Amino acid sequence: MKVYNNILETIGNTPLVRINKLATGVPAQVFAKVETTNPGNSVKDRMAVKMVEDAEKAGLLKPGGTVIEGTSGNTGMGLALACIIKGYKLICVLNDKQSKEKMDILRAVGAEVVVCPTAVEPTDPRSYYSVSRRLATEIPNSWYVNQYDNLSNRQAHYEQTGPEIWEQTEGKITHFVVGVGTGGTISGVGKYLKEKNPNIKIWGIDTYGSVFKKYKETGIFDENEIYPYITEGIGEDILPANVDFEVIDLFEKVTDKDAAVYTRRLAREEGIFVGNSAGSAIKGVLQLKDKLTADDVVVVLFHDHGSRYVGKIFNDDWMRERGFLEEKIITAGDLVAKHADKPLISLYAEELVSHAIAKMRNFGISQIPVMKDGKFVGSIDDSHVYQLLVDEPHLRDAPISSIMNPAFPVVKMTTPIEDLCKLINKQTPAVLVELANGKYHIVSRYDVISAMS
Ligand SMILES: Cc1ncc(COP(=O)(O)O)c(C=O)c1O
Repeated sequence: MKVYNNILETIGNTPLVRINKLATGVPAQVFAKVETTNPGNSVKDRMAVKMVEDAEKAGLLKPGGTVIEGTSGNTGMGLALACIIKGYKLICVLNDKQSKEKMDILRAVGAEVVVCPTAVEPTDPRSYYSVSRRLATEIPNSWYVNQYDNLSNRQAHYEQTGPEIWEQTEGKITHFVVGVGTGGTISGVGKYLKEKNPNIKIWGIDTYGSVFKKYKETGIFDENEIYPYITEGIGEDILPANVDFEVIDLFEKVTDKDAAVYTRRLAREEGIFVGNSAGSAIKGVLQLKDKLTADDVVVVLFHDHGSRYVGKIFNDDWMRERGFLEEKIITAGDLVAKHADKPLISLYAEELVSHAIAKMRNFGISQIPVMKDGKFVGSIDDSHVYQLLVDEPHLRDAPISSIMNPAFPVVKMTTPIEDLCKLINKQTPAVLVELANGKYHIVSRYDVISAMS
């Protein structure tokens, strides 16, 4: 039987997938190492298990012990799986920038979650670094993982992720690109690949608000570089021991907005439903495309699954609130422009209902504003007229003024379509739009529906 003895054995051997549409314009071939097929849906399963097993070997973690970690969620998930299989308790300390989904998922796999403020110094006793350290000293038989400085982290990628990429590309890889947080992924993979071929370039993707790029370029740890940002999982306000600056050739910063927009594009244009740092990484490749040639084979690593970001990156309201959605606002003026070549058909209040029916038929329209003394005084529409004539056929010869509905609401050219939707309903099938020349035109329910579909 081809079976695994437990879920931890399914970690690794993740696919390498060609990036097609999003890599148009990049001269090289671009492949994504998609880490979502790991059982915890992220690359972090690899290092989480390695850190636990190395701690067991070193006698730091004993049977029945408690594992404590300050984690943005993915490492916590990997640790949770390891703790379930190996029988440990897990406490995850998170900062409040992390998505609610990540916290709920950790709780689902049995972890206790402690949430700390993001906007404090790492040395502040409330920071998640400090809280995790303190809990580890207070709780007996506990072990503080410290993925930042625990070198089993990068070793896992040296032993697993690096060799997989080398074999999958048959040694043809020329560039490895990945978002950098603890530095474990880039440093482990980078070291392995450079040992295989020292010409391979290792590019780290950083955020605005993080210290990495400046430190790499100047050797200066500049606190002025540090400020809160939105991208999850990458960029740091500390220099973790796992970041091996020697194997990293350069850092490229990607904005929060670009990271979010490109994460959505990966889902919609490539069908690759991955997390925030993946959007950052692929955008980094595009920003660096002038350094690439047609002979290059680029591997970009996507850390985690998109499902952890459905309340954020994949939520239109969340994106809109941050100004990340570049939406063209459709206005009443845009809708009028689509039939501006046709005149506004109107009726006089004194005309007969039979005239209204003839007009609707001749012009193929369902609603008409009614005028008196140059003003809009009412309206009629086909369903209203139809019902009247079924009930009282003699009304055909009555004046429109005797049966008309209230006048259509008047809006401006600049009124957004969302506001038109609020005005147009079962009773009100259209609005009148006041044009720049002082005249009016009509926007019907049909016009709004067509613009939205
Ligand atoms: C979503 C995501 N992307 C990127 C990273 C960075 O990876 P590494 O810590 O190996 O540098 C992390 C790490 O926490 C992560 O969770």
